[in-house]
Parts: sequence; structure tokens; C-alpha cells
Amino acid sequence: MSHFLSIGDLSREEVLQLFRLTASLKARQKAGDRGTPLAGRTMALIFEKPSLRTRVTFEVGMVQLGGAAVYLSAQEIGLGVRESVPDIARNLSRWVDIITARTYRHATVEALAAHATVPVINGLSDLEHPCQALADFFTLWERGMDLGRIRLAWIGDGNNVCHSLLLLAALLGTPLSMATPPGYAPHPAIQARARDLGGRLTLTTDPREAVEGADVVYTDVWISMGQEAEREQRLEAFRRYQLNEHLLGLARPGALVMHCLPAHRGEEITDAVLDGPQSVVLDQSENRLHAQKAVMVHLLGGGDV
Ligand code: CP
Ligand code: NVA
Repeated sequence: MSHFLSIGDLSREEVLQLFRLTASLKARQKAGDRGTPLAGRTMALIFEKPSLRTRVTFEVGMVQLGGAAVYLSAQEIGLGVRESVPDIARNLSRWVDIITARTYRHATVEALAAHATVPVINGLSDLEHPCQALADFFTLWERGMDLGRIRLAWIGDGNNVCHSLLLLAALLGTPLSMATPPGYAPHPAIQARARDLGGRLTLTTDPREAVEGADVVYTDVWISMGQEAEREQRLEAFRRYQLNEHLLGLARPGALVMHCLPAHRGEEITDAVLDGPQSVVLDQSENRLHAQKAVMVHLLGGGDV
């Protein structure tokens, strides 16, 4: 792996290797071990959209590994306006060791990778959120769940978070039932890719059917960043897809609740479910830090950690 733009950049063996590295980095952090495998290394973080988790976990993660990060808003650097994306990629490559970018169009992060001579990480594009999926599946893996046996249900929009989750589920052999409103199913090319990877995927428009007997239930916002103009139309389309106690009651008793956050409380998920005993959303959020540290060490060859 030279860039991490998509879950498709990883093999199953690399994912399992990253999980082991994540567990080791997390344990070391908890033990107060200040090993610095990326001492002196630097990262540029380019953000076209807002972020809490991704920005903090990359910046803090780099510091914990001994390196440093420089945050650049797209507005500040005039991404594609003041300067072309290829020129920005070429310049940054002369100064930093790695670039993470959150872009609207997936093509922008691909263009950065095509012209950079250092690794590029996708920190969320309109097509994928691979760092999120990695942290999410690590959250299940570290709990000792048998990823080939549990069934995951996705409720809501077949969006960027869903795409990466779908590809990683396929890679790890986790059956996935998805309920999306008509017209909001995952991109056909991503579905095809998941099926090529051997993914066991069931698609329905009925949220009850998808959740019935599931071990894990995952949802995300109905209105993603950049889709604000579609608010009314989306609220109407997704009305029946709220993850509430009634819907969760159809899952296996004790089923885990996941959400990438930020949540739009009262829309795709209720307070009772998000804050309830089955929710692992803060574990997912915490694990972003350690999973991304593993990705950075892997891409930069941080030696034996
Ligand atoms: N889940 C996630 O990526 O959160 P942010 O948008 O806050 O980075
Ligand atoms: N689907 C959401 C995820 C945010 C982390 C969005 O794109 O806004």
C-alpha cells in the first residue's frame, strides 16, 4: 500500500496486520509508553470540509508518534483556485512526509495522490471514509467478535461511510444487510466491487428486515456535508429509517450500536439509542486515533512498534 484512498487499497492480510498494530499502539499509549516511531516526520492535513474527530486524531496521533502535523484549510491554500491540486501535491511533497486530505470530490484526493511523491490518506471524500471503516471494524475485532459470523445491519444512506464499511465487510467476510430508501442505495460500482471480493450483501428498503437478528446496527446522518440543499427532500425520504429503541428491539439482544459521528440527534438516531448501553460510538471515535496511527506507521515504515 503506497496511498490509503480506499479500503480497496488493502488486502485482508494487511487489514489484520493493521489491527494488530493498532492494538499494540493503543496498549502502549494506555501504558504511558512514549515510543516515537515517527520522530521528526511531518504530515500536511488538507480539509475542504469541517471535522472534529479526523483532524484531532490525525494531529494528536502524529504528536504521539513523535512527529508533527500542519493543518491547512482548503480556503487558506485555495485548493484548485489559488493553486492547482497537482501543484499543491508537488510542493507539499518537498516538505512533508505524508498528506491527509478531506475533500468533497473523491477525484481531488486521487489527484493529490497521483501528483504527490509521498503517501496520501483519504480523510473522507464523497465516495469513501476508509479510516472510519478501519477503526469501526477494529472496534468489533478488539471485542473478540468473530467477524465471519456476526451480521452487520446498515440503516440509512448508502453514502461514503457505508461504502468503506461495505468494502471492508466484504474483505473480512462479514455478512451485511442494508436498508436504504429507494434511490439511496450504495453506488453500484462499490456494490460490484464488494461482491467481487466475496461480500455477502443483502439490500432492502425495509429497515426492520435489515435489523432483524443483527449483531451490530450502524447508521449515519441523512444529510452529509455538502448535501444541505437537499435537506427537505432527504428528511422526507429517510423518515422511516430512524434508529430508535423500537427498531433496535428487533436486533439480537445486546446488539451493538455504531455511528461514525457527528450525529444529528433526533433524525437518524434517538438520544436513547445513541447514549444507551448498547452504543459503542465513543469506542469507535477513540479507535480512530490508534487505527490512523497504525496506518501512518505502516505507510511511513515506522519500524517495529
Ligand atoms: N467521523 C468523522 O470523520 O468525524 P469528523 O467529521 O468530526 O472528522
Ligand atoms: N456521511 C457523513 C460522514 C461524516 C463523518 C458526511 O459525509 O458528512
